[in-house]
Amino acid sequence: MAMSTTRTAAELDQEAAVRRVLEDFYRDGKPPWDSGITPPELVALIEGTGAPAPGRALELGCGTGTNAVYLARHGWRVAAVDLVDRAVRQAREKAAAAGADVTVLCADATRLDEVGVPGPYDLFFDLSCYCGIPPHRRDAYAAGLTKRAAPGARLLMFGYGPGAFDDPFAGVTADELGARFTGWRLTDVTPGTNPVPTFWFTLQRAATA
Ligand SMILES: C[S@@+](CC[C@H](N)C(=O)[O-])C[C@H]1O[C@@H](n2cnc3c(N)ncnc32)[C@H](O)[C@@H]1O
Repeated sequence: MAMSTTRTAAELDQEAAVRRVLEDFYRDGKPPWDSGITPPELVALIEGTGAPAPGRALELGCGTGTNAVYLARHGWRVAAVDLVDRAVRQAREKAAAAGADVTVLCADATRLDEVGVPGPYDLFFDLSCYCGIPPHRRDAYAAGLTKRAAPGARLLMFGYGPGAFDDPFAGVTADELGARFTGWRLTDVTPGTNPVPTFWFTLQRAATA
């Protein structure tokens, strides 16, 4: 997909609107998604049969850091980013309280070049971040991960399907990921258990660059 370099006013408005909504969730207290529970799908990858050896992980949209702390506790060297500074502060506090060495940065997952997360990473984890990113930023997200992926790196992503929310652009499909993540293989798509359509996607970067 072509990478756009000019941003229209409408696109900027859309990014600002998404950011405002997210900031409001954290300002109003505990957001509905902040369960404090690591999903079994991540546990299965990290602790299950055929689990990869711990390496370097980057979490996109880490929220208050539950899963970044989980990964660090399981031997991974973890960096995590979130757009909202309140979330980032809470994630840092959670990591400190757990004695977990996690680098948490306030950053846009579609603008990773602006922060110090050069990688390479063996694992990327995204729990419901990408599916809320405006369409015009999604190529940049994919490019940022691809640039930082170690050979054979995995991306485990949970996302809402299109139409799960009123929002006209939110959602993600397997076809979209397959088309956008050049040089990656979509190795698994497992439906989630939510009342609206959700999916766990696993993508893997080619073993040789
Ligand atoms: C649905 S929440 C899930 C948070 C966390 N993964 C969890 O499970 O608790 C999505 C998170 O992604 C963050 N986010 C959304 N767009 C982002 C972006 N472009 N860059 C970084 N973080 C983003 C939001 O601030 C929010 O914390």
